[in-house]
Amino acid sequence: MTLAVDGVTKRYGGIIALEDVSLTVGAGEVVGLIGPNGAGKTTLFDIVSGVQAPSAGTVRLDGRAITTTSPERRARAGIRRTFQRVQLYGHLSVEDNILTATEWRGGGGGLLADLVGAPTRARRERERRARVASVMEAVGIADLAPLPAGSLPIGQARLVELARAVVDEPRVLLLDEPASGLADHEAERFAAQVARLRASDVAVVLVEHDVGFVMGQCDRVVVLDLGRVLAEGSPTEIQQHPAVRAAYLG
Ligand SMILES: Nc1ncnc2c1ncn2[C@@H]1O[C@H](COP(=O)(O)OP(=O)(O)OP(=O)(O)O)[C@@H](O)[C@H]1O
Ligand SMILES: [Mg+2]
Repeated sequence: MTLAVDGVTKRYGGIIALEDVSLTVGAGEVVGLIGPNGAGKTTLFDIVSGVQAPSAGTVRLDGRAITTTSPERRARAGIRRTFQRVQLYGHLSVEDNILTATEWRGGGGGLLADLVGAPTRARRERERRARVASVMEAVGIADLAPLPAGSLPIGQARLVELARAVVDEPRVLLLDEPASGLADHEAERFAAQVARLRASDVAVVLVEHDVGFVMGQCDRVVVLDLGRVLAEGSPTEIQQHPAVRAAYLG
């Protein structure tokens, strides 16, 4: 799927968090979104995922405007995200945190099927658990399955959040500072997952302050500064861009 952000502006009272931002991400493309603190990166994710409405502009998925579509329906259409401040159910196990991300599909048959223990429901439940197990394996957190998510250090919690975001085959994935707080071996696992998502035609937007991580993972980089697109290009072009060096890379 192709995600397109077209002329998006977001004002919070007198603050202009985003100003006329346009951005397209195609299937199988990994786009890095970098910029200083307060540049508007998370705000853009909030607008694409639907938790904030833009003051102006349009968000499109495969050409269809979704600007007024609810966050739930956008998630069902395949737009998933992770959060800069990890959002997990602290008292639930790692496995159950990931299972809840598949629950909207339901078990089939509703309450009655639950009561009579219909075989289709039991089968779907098994399939869901098997899928969760394979994602935990792929992300490298299988041994954490029974632990309460609230007990995990930040690096592991970010991997659980990644598993939640990818368990149900996203088409568009927004990652907000996924490498922040990760140990090197965790960042490598994360990078491997990004590569796998690219190969399965997911459109990925990666917000990250770790410039090395961004340059290594991304096909294209967009630089935001004070809510505006300052530059856009290949990782090499961005690293050589004078305005970017001045504003961001130092
Ligand atoms: N809910 C809100 N209410 C008011 N102002 C907000 C809100 N969310 C963001 N802002 C403001 O909008 C601007 C952009 O913030 P945003 O969080 O999108 O930046 P960011 O690029 O993600 O920064 P960081 O790198 O620190 O995460 C900032 O000035 C911020 O204070
Ligand atoms: Mg942010």
